[in-house]
Amino acid sequence: SSGKNPEARRLSEWTRPELLALSETYGSPLYVMDLDRVAENCQRLLAAFPAADIRYAVKAHTGRAVLETVREAGLDAECASAGEVLRSTEAGFDGDRIHYTAVNPPAEDLDYVVDVWVDNPELTVTVGSADTLDRLSERGFDGRVCLRVNPGVGAGHHKKVQTGAAAKFGVPIERAADVARAAAARFEFVGIHAHAGSGISGDDLSNHRELVRRMGELARKIADAGIALEYVDVGGGFGVPYVEDEPPLDLNAVAAATRKALGTVETPTGDAVQLAIEPGRYVVADAGVLLTRVNTVKQARDTLVAGTDAGMTTLLRPAMYDAYHPIENISRDGTVTPVTVAGPICETADVLCEDRPVATPERGDIFAIGIAGAYGYEMASTYNSRPRPAEVVHSDGEYRLGRRAEQLSELTTLETDSSGRAVQTL
Ligand code: LLP
Repeated sequence: SSGKNPEARRLSEWTRPELLALSETYGSPLYVMDLDRVAENCQRLLAAFPAADIRYAVKAHTGRAVLETVREAGLDAECASAGEVLRSTEAGFDGDRIHYTAVNPPAEDLDYVVDVWVDNPELTVTVGSADTLDRLSERGFDGRVCLRVNPGVGAGHHKKVQTGAAAKFGVPIERAADVARAAAARFEFVGIHAHAGSGISGDDLSNHRELVRRMGELARKIADAGIALEYVDVGGGFGVPYVEDEPPLDLNAVAAATRKALGTVETPTGDAVQLAIEPGRYVVADAGVLLTRVNTVKQARDTLVAGTDAGMTTLLRPAMYDAYHPIENISRDGTVTPVTVAGPICETADVLCEDRPVATPERGDIFAIGIAGAYGYEMASTYNSRPRPAEVVHSDGEYRLGRRAEQLSELTTLETDSSGRAVQTL
């Protein structure tokens, strides 16, 4: 292959002087998010799935500017927590575009979401266990409910992101029709939902198809029992290429396979049931770059180590899933050396890549880490008491601050009152 991939924004497509200037202005590490690319990715999804309801999985990137871009593109918001519902409403999503997926929901989340529902009665709650239905009733909720099903088939780039057969998610598909019947008696029953996993590649497509087939079958069974439903949500998970010459997912082929596997589902009144999808990664992954400065360079026993100011607290994916991200030294060209890029955290796992060929680094160089827009900032932590970095957003040739950097002085704010004294215990 030529390595050229028109459907994924390559690290090499970012303008180096622009990125270097950003790291000068805003410091490092620095997340950079291209909102234009986010909008293009939304358009690609809308074109491939013209008749589907598309809900952006907010967890992939929750920044206000990203949420506004997705909202303007016409996608709905799929939220995994009260916090994501709060962010989505603040970013201007109306209640009828908010889908809250309750995963073993804490009481505070249900309290909050039911409060939001009172003013936004078109909001939908997706429920993954029968007792969550009871917990909603106890709070006076009788609105739109979707049932999350455990389809018994999973997919995804790593076993830690395969959800379709994992015990913690959803009602087993064998019991789903009964729970749907119980739900329809007490709520406005609107659909069924399942999610196979994250980072589905062309190789996993048969698992995706099997999930969709099972969901189509279930939907027909529910409709035959006289229960109306608006949609069948087959989740997100569409993968993007991380390795430079990996081919992109053929979205049109995925869409065609999905429709075929789903088949036709009609409501008891003869209306067609909608297909719904929930992509997160696909919308934001290739719109993001993480910039990091090389602070030390040393010859270790077996490898050259570049010590950077980004690490597992800035980008957890390599430590957690052995995930691959493209990395380039954007400060120089020239001789290429295998380099291990390691962060500033006191953990052996704090390594972003091993023996990766990059232009031989010198102290002060800036590395760009690609495809960092999904589950990058979102999985960041302040472990080792490292404040989280800033994020700048780009659109139409302009850059602006999307989220400011956390300050050292903010690290203890939860432990101290405004005068700096330790917080009082209750
Ligand atoms: N819908 C539900 C119910 C989900 O749980 C998820 C992701 C999505 C949609 C969106 O999946 P996506 O289209 O982004 O693959 N931190 C991991 C990914 C975890 C995904 C969790 N759920 C990673 O960095 O690979």
